Amino acid sequence: MKGIILAGGTGSRLYPLTKVTNKHLLPVYDKPMIFYPLQTLIDAGIEDIIIISGRGHAGHFLELLGSGSELGVHLTYEIQEEAGGIAQALGLAVDFADNEPVTVILGDNIFQDKVRNEVKSFESGAKIFLKEVPDANRFGVAEIRENKIISIEEKPSVPKSNFAVTGLYIYDPGVFDIIQTLKPSGRGELEITDVNNEYIRMGNMSYSVLSGFWSDAGTFESLFRACELLRNMKLGI
Ligand code: DAU
Repeated sequence: MKGIILAGGTGSRLYPLTKVTNKHLLPVYDKPMIFYPLQTLIDAGIEDIIIISGRGHAGHFLELLGSGSELGVHLTYEIQEEAGGIAQALGLAVDFADNEPVTVILGDNIFQDKVRNEVKSFESGAKIFLKEVPDANRFGVAEIRENKIISIEEKPSVPKSNFAVTGLYIYDPGVFDIIQTLKPSGRGELEITDVNNEYIRMGNMSYSVLSGFWSDAGTFESLFRACELLRNMKLGI
């Protein structure tokens, strides 16, 4: 299994923190943000990883992580010229994926759970990871009936459940064909939620519910909370 870290986008919700650096290089307690999704992939047994970042400060990822040898992995880098959405960024990894399944993680998502078993046992279709949250309207939200996801809504004003779709996805190579068919959403982006809804429509979507801590770190509040939680965990508070 190959791994893809999506670290493009503008980081506009964290401005001015992101004026002279990339969101994914900001500190989350004692490490740069990107270390966390990278570690999630490494813990899942993934050793061949591509980092897709925007133009701004892209060289800093290389300076920070190099070839990946210090971490025992092989890193490749790709540039997303404009913030055209998560699905557009993923589409840039088509050659890297080389017709194999991929585990995809958003560069601002921090997971406590280990997903090695899910990665190992993945066969085909798509798999997403849900987390019950109090503020589902900030995320993609899964509607579940009889233990099946019947749809995902992106940032609904009235969420149909408390299950947020986290930024961790496993896809078969068919994902790249689906991305080719997408149209930009109202916010002008190719949406990962549209990709996931297509897998649901085809009856090829499975999911797991995470039990550990999960947070994005893309807003002042979530970044602060992620720092606090990681500090408490590290210090055993
Ligand atoms: O955090 C989980 C949520 O992430 C999901 O619940 C949503 O369904 C999903 O759409 C996404 O929502 P956000 O609006 O919070 O995503 P955001 O624009 O903050 O982007 C998250 C990461 O994706 C970002 O840290 C880097 C990557 N990204 C994003 C965009 C827009 C790219 O690589 N390229 C892009 O063009």
